[in-house]
Amino acid sequence: MKVTVFGTGYVGLVQGAVLASSGHNVVCVDIDQQKVDNLKKGIIPIYEPGLTPMVKENYDAKLLDFTTDAKAAVEHGDLIFIAVGTPPDEDGSADLKYVLQVADTIALHMQSKKVVINKSTVPVGTADKVKAAIQSRLVKRKQLIEFSVVSNPEFLKEGAAVADCTRPDRIIIGTDNAEAEKLMRELYAPYNRNHQKIIVMDIRSAELTKYAANCMLATKISFMNEMSNLAEKLGADIEAVRHGIGSDQRIGYQFIYAGCGYGGSCFPKDIQALIRTANDHGHKPAILEAVESTNVAQKDKLFKYITSHFNNDLTGKTIALWGLSFKPNTDDMREASSRRFMELAWEAGAQIQAFDPEAMNEAQRIYGHRDDLQLVGTKEAALRNADALVICTEWTQFRAPDFELIKQLINNPVIIDGRNLYDPALVEEKGIAYYGIGRGRSV
Ligand code: UGA
Repeated sequence: MKVTVFGTGYVGLVQGAVLASSGHNVVCVDIDQQKVDNLKKGIIPIYEPGLTPMVKENYDAKLLDFTTDAKAAVEHGDLIFIAVGTPPDEDGSADLKYVLQVADTIALHMQSKKVVINKSTVPVGTADKVKAAIQSRLVKRKQLIEFSVVSNPEFLKEGAAVADCTRPDRIIIGTDNAEAEKLMRELYAPYNRNHQKIIVMDIRSAELTKYAANCMLATKISFMNEMSNLAEKLGADIEAVRHGIGSDQRIGYQFIYAGCGYGGSCFPKDIQALIRTANDHGHKPAILEAVESTNVAQKDKLFKYITSHFNNDLTGKTIALWGLSFKPNTDDMREASSRRFMELAWEAGAQIQAFDPEAMNEAQRIYGHRDDLQLVGTKEAALRNADALVICTEWTQFRAPDFELIKQLINNPVIIDGRNLYDPALVEEKGIAYYGIGRGRSV
């Protein structure tokens, strides 16, 4: 099938590449010429396992192309995805500016029947706005061209985006049009062969499904973080509690890891956007508000442990920081807990020596101007002459460190572990002070 994707960010690029790899003919559009030129050369702006070879192969096979020419791209696709960003407004609601601009561009150039597919995470009611935007442009053009708008939210996780998109848990299709449903079923048939993944529903339910899924996952995390704070007060170990409750299949083991807070481009933004939507409709979303405020407070935890350890004085201290990205297998630092920690530590007069396996360029881009941040090439280099080790991201290579080396390189060593990677007793036995999340020491 002929497919066009507007937006070559995480969602658009991965979706485009995956659809091309199953034989669809995909054109991805972006307004950034440099980005398009790079993509044609196989230079991918994000780190995502498996994505670079997939883009290269399908570009070479002429199943995937990149362009800034919106007119040609609209002509190409019978199915047109909108996968552009929806950054939060100042009030937390999702900004639909880019989505509606693309809707207008599609309407400006379309000459034949189109199915317009909302892939971006957008508030309930956006499909109606997209429909209205297209309609109004067509009226201005004095053209009566048929189209329908479908909601088809994305559920990929950064770091596993290609795998999630190739083998999705579910494919949500929100539509009120039988013909559009048929085309969507055909589009996704390659991913729906062995198991029935497609769930068709009305458009508004599809839009809400996306938010409900992310907010439920964020709720699980904030709930566990609250339990971890309680565990600290009560002298319990949150890791034992996690094991204990996860074994109940109704609860499950996933997304119940207490830590230094959730980050990324999705959970924080989506919770805020749904709170805003609820408020706009006269509903006070008490649970969502608690999820958000618990997470904001949780991002301060690492700083609280370290200041408590050093008797409220971080002046002149050097802190080794392992992990800058908001989670492993990505270079994304949006809303990362590391950022909140660094900003608090700098304010308190500390120096930071940081290492991350993938996010060094990103850290350089954001904080390159700071002289109280040294970005170093290895996790060992970060430890040199440091006063403490703080861990913000659970990269695999941090899981079994050389504790002897840590002892050698850090005076009176202390580890503040925001991802509960180690056994507290084992670390303490080695002569290293240890703070985990919800694991004994309380702040
Ligand atoms: C999230 C969802 O998991 C995807 O299903 C969804 O499609 C995506 O948002 C989106 O809306 O696009 P992502 O933001 O890539 O995916 O990352 P997650 O793996 O969900 O992790 C989010 C944050 O939660 C990370 O900071 C992670 O460290 C934290 N987390 C996760 C915990 O603190 N504890 C856990 O048990 C699990």
